[in-house]
Amino acid sequence: MSYPISVAILGIGQRGLQHLRALWKLQGEGLVKIVALIDTFEDNLVEAKIQKYVDGFQMDGIHTAADFSKTIAELPLDAIYFAIPPGVHNGELIEAANAGIHIFAEKPMSLYMNEALEMDRVIRDNGVISTVGFQQRYDRRYEATHDFLADKQMVMVTMLMNGALEAHSVKHTITETLGGPANRVWTANFEWSGSTVVEAGIHQTDLMRYWCGDIVWVEADYIHRDPTDIVDGGDNPYAYTVKFGFESGCIANLLLSRLRKVYYSDGYQSLLWTHGHLKFEGNDVVAYYYDGPYPPAQTPQRESLRHVLPLPSGVDPTEQISRAFLRAIATGSTDGLRSTFASSINSLAAVLGANASDQLGGKRTDLKDFLVDEKSDRFRRKPADTNFV
Ligand SMILES: NC(=O)c1ccc[n+]([C@@H]2O[C@H](COP(=O)([O-])OP(=O)(O)OC[C@H]3O[C@@H](n4cnc5c(N)ncnc54)[C@H](O)[C@@H]3O)[C@@H](O)[C@H]2O)c1
Repeated sequence: MSYPISVAILGIGQRGLQHLRALWKLQGEGLVKIVALIDTFEDNLVEAKIQKYVDGFQMDGIHTAADFSKTIAELPLDAIYFAIPPGVHNGELIEAANAGIHIFAEKPMSLYMNEALEMDRVIRDNGVISTVGFQQRYDRRYEATHDFLADKQMVMVTMLMNGALEAHSVKHTITETLGGPANRVWTANFEWSGSTVVEAGIHQTDLMRYWCGDIVWVEADYIHRDPTDIVDGGDNPYAYTVKFGFESGCIANLLLSRLRKVYYSDGYQSLLWTHGHLKFEGNDVVAYYYDGPYPPAQTPQRESLRHVLPLPSGVDPTEQISRAFLRAIATGSTDGLRSTFASSINSLAAVLGANASDQLGGKRTDLKDFLVDEKSDRFRRKPADTNFV
C-alpha cells in the first residue's frame, strides 16, 4: 500500500487528541490522510475545541460522526486508531478488523481478557496489521536501556510509582451521563479503569517485558479503599504490590499508590542484572557496574562505577509509534513494530492476572492457565451487567 494511509480515530479525548496532533504533523509530510473523527459526544468533535489541543488544526474535508458502523461502511479507510475508555468497547474493533482495516489499539486493549483474546483472534484471522499504544518502547531512554540490557542476565526489576488519586490530565468522556464519575476522572474508578495496575501500571509492566521478556506468573495484593473514603467514584485501591516472574527467571516488583488528599507524586526504578544496577536519574539512564581488572586492588570509587548511557536523538514517542505503524502498513512488514496486538496480550494478561491474584488473596496466577482454564473464566469474562453496553 502506498502513502498516504487513510485513517480514522475513534474517541477524540485525551489520547485521541494526542494521536491527532501527531497525525496532523504526519499528514503535512504526506504519510497519512485523516479521513474521519468518530466520537459519541458531538462536543468532542467541534473544530474550535480540537484547535486548543492541535495547533493549526482545520476540519476541512474531515468527516465527523457518532456512528461507527455507518462511517466505516461508507468511507475508504486503511486504518483506525481506537482511543476510547477500555471498558466501553462494543465490537467496533472486531468489526473494523473483519472489514480488513488495520488496527491501532490503545492500552489496555480491554478490561476483559476474553474480549481481548477475541480481538486478537479476529486480527490474526484477517491478517491486518496491528499495534498497541505502548509508545514508551519508542522513548529513547527506554530504547537505550533495552539495547544496553540485551546481552545481560536480568535478575530483578523494581518500579515504584506514587500518584495522586485526583491528579490526572483532563478526561473527555462525559462520564456523568453514563453512570460514571461526575468529575470525569474515570481512571480513579475501578469499574471504568479496571484498577490502577490495569490502566496505568500496564505501561510499566510492558516496559519490564521490553527489557526482560515475557511474564509467566503474577502475585498481587492490593490495599483496598475504605468505603467511607470514596469521593466521586474514586474507589480504586490505595496501594498495590505486584510481583511478576519472567520466563527468563528474572523477578519484578511493581509498586503503585493512589492516595487521596496528598497531591504528591514520585517514583523509583531499579533494574538489576547479575553484575550491575541501572537507574533513571532525571533524563539520564545510568548504569552502575565495575569494569576494571578483577578483583580490584581496592574498593573502586563510586564515580568510576557510574556510566551514563549515550542516548539517540529524541522524537516524541507518540509520533514515533505512529510512524512505525504507518510504515508497517505501507510496506506490509511488521518488523519495525515493537508492540503488535498479539505480542501485547502478555502485558494485558499480567495486569488482569494481578487483579485475579489479589481477589484470590495473593495466590500465584500462572498466566498460561489464566488465559484458558475454566476456573479463571470468571476473571476473564465481561460481566453481563456492565453499565457500558
Ligand atoms: N498510551 C498512552 O500513554 C495513553 C495515555 C492516555 C490514555 N490512554 C488510553 O487511551 C484510551 C482513551 O483514554 P482517554 O484518556 O483519551 O479518555 P478520554 O475520556 O479523555 O477520551 C475518550 C474519548 O472517547 C469518547 N468515547 C467514549 N466512549 C465512546 C464510545 N463508546 N464510542 C465512541 N467514542 C467514545 C469520549 O467522548 C472521549 O472523547 C484509554 O484506553 C486510555 O487508557 C493511553
